[in-house]
Amino acid sequence: MNIIQKDILAPTIVRFIVQAPQIASKAEPGHFVIVRHKEMGERIPLTIADYDQAAGTITLVCHGIGRSTREINELEQGDAFLDILGPLGEPYPIKYLGTVVCVAGGLGVAPLYPKAKALAAAGNKIITLMGAQRQEMLIMANEMEAISQRVEYSTDDGSYGHKGFVTQLLQRVLDEETVDEVIAIGPLPMMAAAMDVTRPVGVPSVVSLNTLMVDGTGMCGGCRVTVAGETKFACVDGPAFDGHAVDFKEILQRQPFYREQEKTALHACRLEEVV
Ligand code: FES
Repeated sequence: MNIIQKDILAPTIVRFIVQAPQIASKAEPGHFVIVRHKEMGERIPLTIADYDQAAGTITLVCHGIGRSTREINELEQGDAFLDILGPLGEPYPIKYLGTVVCVAGGLGVAPLYPKAKALAAAGNKIITLMGAQRQEMLIMANEMEAISQRVEYSTDDGSYGHKGFVTQLLQRVLDEETVDEVIAIGPLPMMAAAMDVTRPVGVPSVVSLNTLMVDGTGMCGGCRVTVAGETKFACVDGPAFDGHAVDFKEILQRQPFYREQEKTALHACRLEEVV
């Protein structure tokens, strides 16, 4: 589980290429892993952002926003994760669809990339729309440009591309092109907004849910979501689902559940840094 390469993609976002031949040999687009970086460490789900079966490596992208993810992002080339569980989740089915619009909000590009790459290899036309708060948070743009016929950008502050939301770009593309599927991955409000754009025109749409996870194997219920009125577990039934069937309102209500504990942990972490 050695880290053989570390790249800082943005101020709080780090990409690790990790030696994990057994996971790489079974990895498919849509899979994720759960990592622990130290004994008694929190279990952190991370998408498999890429994999190289010949080299026996997987690529993980970590956003350092909580105590554990900040500690993970301090790992260096040559360090190792304590353990990595995976691959987990249901792979995303790859087939020829025609024109697929890939909508990435912020870090959503990490789970989106392996799907887009495999869809491009299957002959699909890929249109990529990438949005972020500001230019420096637009990550993996070169990778997406290499597999896309058309790429457009948006930033909240207008520092790069369209000033505004990536869902506005989506609306424009749907007005201009015949689209066979939309895959939207990013923050929950962005995915919910993207579904509001695609639902009226009836374009099949897929989202990937980054819900709270603990065991990642369907036992704790932490990642429970409602899809088409049925209870599903994002870790074993997803994380990709039919976006038009997902109850986003329920997920958005549950998401802040552990915010206070996270704030406490982060505060303790800062105190340790000071001491
Ligand atoms: S993470 Fe526990 S059931 Fe999905």
